[in-house]
Amino acid sequence: MSRYALELLDISCTFRSKDAQGQRYTAVAGTTLRVREGEFVSVVGPTGCGKSTLLNVGAGLLEPSSGTIKVFGQPLTGINARAGYMFQTEALMPWRSTLANVMVGLQYRGVPDGEARAQAEQWLTRVGLTGFGDRYPHQLSGGMRKRTALAQVLALDPDIILMDEPFSALDVQTRQLMENEVLELWAAKKKAVLFITHDLDEAIAMSDRVVVLSAGPATHPIGEFAIDLPRPRDVAEVRTHPRFVELHTQIWNVLRDEVLKGYAQQLRKAA
Ligand SMILES: Nc1ncnc2c1ncn2[C@@H]1O[C@H](COP(=O)(O)OP(=O)(O)O)[C@@H](O)[C@H]1O
Ligand SMILES: [Mg+2]
Repeated sequence: MSRYALELLDISCTFRSKDAQGQRYTAVAGTTLRVREGEFVSVVGPTGCGKSTLLNVGAGLLEPSSGTIKVFGQPLTGINARAGYMFQTEALMPWRSTLANVMVGLQYRGVPDGEARAQAEQWLTRVGLTGFGDRYPHQLSGGMRKRTALAQVLALDPDIILMDEPFSALDVQTRQLMENEVLELWAAKKKAVLFITHDLDEAIAMSDRVVVLSAGPATHPIGEFAIDLPRPRDVAEVRTHPRFVELHTQIWNVLRDEVLKGYAQQLRKAA
């Protein structure tokens, strides 16, 4: 039985809302979520339910109102140094070249420049960006910027990889290419991955396990599904597998009502 890389135990997060009454909004309540070493876990849930909140808790960027976080069995205080974090939005520094963006984390860790450069170049090659090191982020396509962000995270060789809807802004073909590449890189290193998405197809295609969150407020897991599809997988091809269709139906039965509730809530918030 493998160890847990990351455990979120009975986590609740309450925010003070922006309105004049200063009411409190409980985004996440009593959520327990565990990721084993080498396991790829996806969390799906409607927009605004608290997915990013949970990931921020796991990264040590947000202190929960209550609950405990454990990293390889040890309680987490402060930033989770064993985790690498890939954000939904662009996180590259526009004034640094692609190579310099990948090097920055290594330099921050004290790796000498020459060594950092060599490692960063290797990572750019692994993500398919050989020869693009001297380009600046604005000179790259959206997909290439995502590849750079991926190289940036993987170059630090984190034991836990946290990804927050990393490919949601990409077109379908680029997205599938990148999903397959992430799976290949993951298969080679077998790090623990916590992958956030609102896309059920993506969650099933990539993961060992899919956790479904309820709509907010007081979001919590309402279903958990082992994805027993064979690996290696091609994310486009696996969708035609009869077992994929079966799992999709089962999980969608749980997720559908939450998506409708989440949507109604977004409309109310916007009103
Ligand atoms: N810092 C904050 N202050 C107030 N409310 C917040 C804050 N962060 C998130 N929320 C609220 O908590 C809920 C969950 O947000 P989030 O985790 O970003 O959702 P998701 O990533 O699932 O779309 C939303 O209703 C959001 O408005
Ligand atoms: Mg989010």
